[in-house]
Amino acid sequence: MIATKGLEGVIIDNSEICKIDGNAGRLIYRGYDIHDLASSLSFEEAAYLLWNGDLPNREELKDFNDQIVRQRSIPESLNTVIRNLSTSSNALDVLRTAISTLGVKVPLTKPDMADAIAISAKIPTINAAFERIRNGHEPIEPRDDLNHAANYLYMLTGSSPDPVKVDALNKYMILLADHGMNSSTFTARVVASTWADAYSAVVAAICALKGPLHGGAPAPVLQMLQEIGKPERAEEWIRNELNSDRRLMGFGHRVYKTTDPRAQILREIAEKSAPKDLIELAKKVEETGIRILQEYRPQRKLYANVEFYSAVVMDSVGLPPDLFTATFAASRSIGWTANILEQVANNRLIRPQIEYTGQIDRKVVPINAR
Ligand code: ACO
Repeated sequence: MIATKGLEGVIIDNSEICKIDGNAGRLIYRGYDIHDLASSLSFEEAAYLLWNGDLPNREELKDFNDQIVRQRSIPESLNTVIRNLSTSSNALDVLRTAISTLGVKVPLTKPDMADAIAISAKIPTINAAFERIRNGHEPIEPRDDLNHAANYLYMLTGSSPDPVKVDALNKYMILLADHGMNSSTFTARVVASTWADAYSAVVAAICALKGPLHGGAPAPVLQMLQEIGKPERAEEWIRNELNSDRRLMGFGHRVYKTTDPRAQILREIAEKSAPKDLIELAKKVEETGIRILQEYRPQRKLYANVEFYSAVVMDSVGLPPDLFTATFAASRSIGWTANILEQVANNRLIRPQIEYTGQIDRKVVPINAR
């Protein structure tokens, strides 16, 4: 008997990391509502919470920040690997290759907190190095005195980042840090459940993040907004898209049957960080998209998802569209590794079955008689 196509509604284990209430539109990390976390924490505090279960006190946070800062640099040999990739490569493919390269040096060991910190600390450095190299510049060393979000923007540009952009990116990174049993986190847990190392599990998660039904949606969302161009063109563009049997990027969710709480918060962030024209256009496209999707798919409740305003926020902080999903990975690496650690702490191999619907009892005919 098939559980449900796409494993919808299937609960694979217990977890104490993240709760989603899809009907109420609530997201909770370790007992704290995402609204509270995004409004008051640094990304580092959120990472500490997701990995350790509680918020850090001042001393714990200082020690934790020091550990992250120490792990930010990447070896020159990795910059050489990145230089040898085509400048037209997809940034997420480069990130996948880079994490895989770092993992080659690691013996097959049980994932631990040191792996979680090392991987998550290095992702912004890898993304920034590729962005610099493909534009003909040298990579910039991370700065010890900047927080995670500020240092990422600094490594991309070489100049001190605007505090409004740092705040927007910091909040974005908290909001995207974890999200229950999404496809990439499930993939990470499957790989970790085979007793593979943390780097292998994260590489697999990056692969699962790539597609537009999951983490690959924000760049197409920005492209949609650019193609629509003006609020008055939204209706015609969206109808044309749906009449052509294409999905509207940045709308719909497997779990949320109401507004995704992250989309609401990201809209508020975008209102502060994005140009007025773009945010007005995005709001019009959101409102029109919800209305028209209700007409085309009356049996579904389709709202803007996290990727819709993620695209606007990431554009507003100066990230190129090709770095959107790789930046999502910089944030979600916290959730991936928190789940990897939880999986290995109480492991059982994840190994479902599939219902065979092919033929049986066929006889092999010799090749010259086929
Ligand atoms: N545009 C048009 N139709 C849609 C959309 C959409 N954005 N989302 C769902 N539908 C329709 C499907 O076409 C399908 O219609 P049908 O029953 O007539 O064939 C129906 O709703 C159900 O679709 P499923 O794929 O089964 O729904 P599911 O809940 O599994 O989908 C998903 C969730 C994949 C996110 C979907 O809403 C989608 O494709 N959205 C667009 C891509 C996107 O925004 N991806 C980012 C997701 S957020 C994240 O992963 C971080």
